Amino acid sequence: MKQVVSLEELRAARKSLAEPIGFVPTMGFLHAGHISLVELAKKANASVVVSIFVNPAQFGPNEDLSAYPRDIPKDLKMLADAGVDLVWLPTPDDVYPPGFATWVSVEGVTEPLEGASRPGHFRGVATVVAKLFNAVQPQSAYFGQKDAQQVAVIKQMTRDLNFPLEIVVGPTLREPDGLAMSSRNSYLSAEERQAAPVLHRALSAAKTSYEAGEHSGDALRAAMHDVLKQEPLARLQYVSCADSLTLQELNQIENDALLSLAVFIGKTRLIDNVLLS
Ligand code: PAF
Repeated sequence: MKQVVSLEELRAARKSLAEPIGFVPTMGFLHAGHISLVELAKKANASVVVSIFVNPAQFGPNEDLSAYPRDIPKDLKMLADAGVDLVWLPTPDDVYPPGFATWVSVEGVTEPLEGASRPGHFRGVATVVAKLFNAVQPQSAYFGQKDAQQVAVIKQMTRDLNFPLEIVVGPTLREPDGLAMSSRNSYLSAEERQAAPVLHRALSAAKTSYEAGEHSGDALRAAMHDVLKQEPLARLQYVSCADSLTLQELNQIENDALLSLAVFIGKTRLIDNVLLS
């Protein structure tokens, strides 16, 4: 597995890779969810490229960029074991050199949910992903369903800016108790970790109710609320039952819908979602 840092090194290494190329962008501190995306990419491509870059532009002023978990040696071992061909580990200066002044701002789908709770977050995500796509020039790129709104934003940007690649979405991987895998789970204390599966329980309760015939948005949002209320360590930020493409809240589910929520467990903000179709 080859490792590169600068854009020049990446471009040189990219030239010798067999195509098609599958690309998995990450912020590191990898878990089985990331590796499942690498495996999807390996099945459908001749080469797999992974980037590890903790993108300062997607962290808000009150979100602790310096505390974001990092373990590059472990990440590299996991990627080598998974059969990745090339890993790109750019520095912040490689991605945002002095004088950097161009941002990608996707409208509409960035506004509700995560966009409302984390102003500027999706501008940072869209900008870095556009730059990574331009640099790596993959035929397909892999993202996890856990960040459902991020997927919607990246699909919109890919269409609008004519990136010639396919966006592939991998399923959310879960711990045995239902907690969605996330690098942020490492922030949880033992007690908080015990409380964290409440997100999945809330989504499952609403999904069961939907499957039993309840199609009212209000009723499904209330079903999630009711479960979250029972967990004293959980502080709700939002529950949503929205159109799965536009992410606008629904009164009544007629087609596909996305149930999603954001919850603080102690100081750690967790998100999760489930698609109803
Ligand atoms: O999902 C992530 O890890 C990040 O948002 C991404 C897509 C790598 C952009 O920094």
